[in-house]
Amino acid sequence: MAGSLLGLAACGGSRQIATTNSKGLKDQFRNAFLIGTALDSLQVAAPEKETESLIGLQFNAITAENGMKAEHIHPQWGRFDFNWSDRFIDYGQTREMYIVGHTLIWHSQLPDFVRSIQSPDSLQQFIQQHINTIVSRYAGKVDSWDVVNEALNEDGSYRQSIFFEKLGAAYITDAFKLAAAAAPDAALYYNDYNIEQPRKRAGALRLIEEARKEGARIDGVGIQGHWHSGKVPFEAIEQSIREFAAAGLKVAITELDLNLLPAPPKLSGAEISQRFAADPALNPYPTGLPEAQQQQLAADYERLFRLFVKYRQQITRISFWGVNDRQSWLNNWPVPGRTNYPLLFDRENQPKPAYFKVRAIEVN
Ligand code: G3I
Repeated sequence: MAGSLLGLAACGGSRQIATTNSKGLKDQFRNAFLIGTALDSLQVAAPEKETESLIGLQFNAITAENGMKAEHIHPQWGRFDFNWSDRFIDYGQTREMYIVGHTLIWHSQLPDFVRSIQSPDSLQQFIQQHINTIVSRYAGKVDSWDVVNEALNEDGSYRQSIFFEKLGAAYITDAFKLAAAAAPDAALYYNDYNIEQPRKRAGALRLIEEARKEGARIDGVGIQGHWHSGKVPFEAIEQSIREFAAAGLKVAITELDLNLLPAPPKLSGAEISQRFAADPALNPYPTGLPEAQQQQLAADYERLFRLFVKYRQQITRISFWGVNDRQSWLNNWPVPGRTNYPLLFDRENQPKPAYFKVRAIEVN
């Protein structure tokens, strides 16, 4: 295949990914970092033709948006359903893409049987079986795992999830050790939202230091990147990249999108359990994005990517949370049925002004 090789040894994975010489973002940033997208269930099971060509042109990394979460892949005790995830892996391998497994241990989207587990021993057994089975199945195929997702509160303390309540912070160490044993070559990440904010960032650094002290391998931190256009915390992001790098961690921006809609007054972070009723005042652009907001989005994305390029030695991957605005989860969260515009491609897969700003950035 024509193309250059991205040196990915620093990601903790041993596999190298070939890229083609077409002219998408993946080529633009070839010497800096991978450019990824999240794929929803339908995009793999019943691909849309135009979206499919856009993915092939623009991205060289994919993350499973929902299909590898426990409720889908491990619906009952001891029973796994690899129907979708096998197709997802096959999708990535066929196209020689970097494959991200999302996510092994998360308090959300758990199957009912896990929520009803009473004893710490049984929960420990679930974690072991879950990680051993899934990570071994895809060893050498999944390049990077989001091993533990969203284990922290906004103040940096441990979230009172079922895992923490029954097992304490030891579940985090165990999860990373199990993943490392099952896939020694995969890069292992801790992933969270708002993790660039000072208190949560400090909590993440503590969490990682403690797990490492107990012998866990943690290669990097996933800064999810669910930000709001016009309010992107650039300074906190830069400071976080520096601090994570100083702690010997790689950084990936794992779920990038920039929300353009008003936040309900009581919303906090990207906690998925928060839901609010539909209200026209919260859906101001149902027929199109006004020029001022379009330009704000473009300016935010441009500044973000300039920052990412500056830290390209530390950053392994920038992944968008979806391919186009039509597919974005932000049309349905935290208010259902809104019209949001958070990505670089519009509802018809056309590049937006933000795309051209990002595309124009030089990478030496
Ligand atoms: O599959 C059902 C479908 O059968 C049903 O008709 C439909 C009706 O609402 O719901 C569908 O399930 C939805 C699922 O996405 C697939 O679209 C769920 O309701 C919905 O809650 C779920 O949302 C996902 C969310 O995680 C759930 O926790 C989003 O798509 C997904 O983008 C989001 O991703 C998370 C990351 O994993 C972790 N970081 C935050 C990020 C955003 O919340």
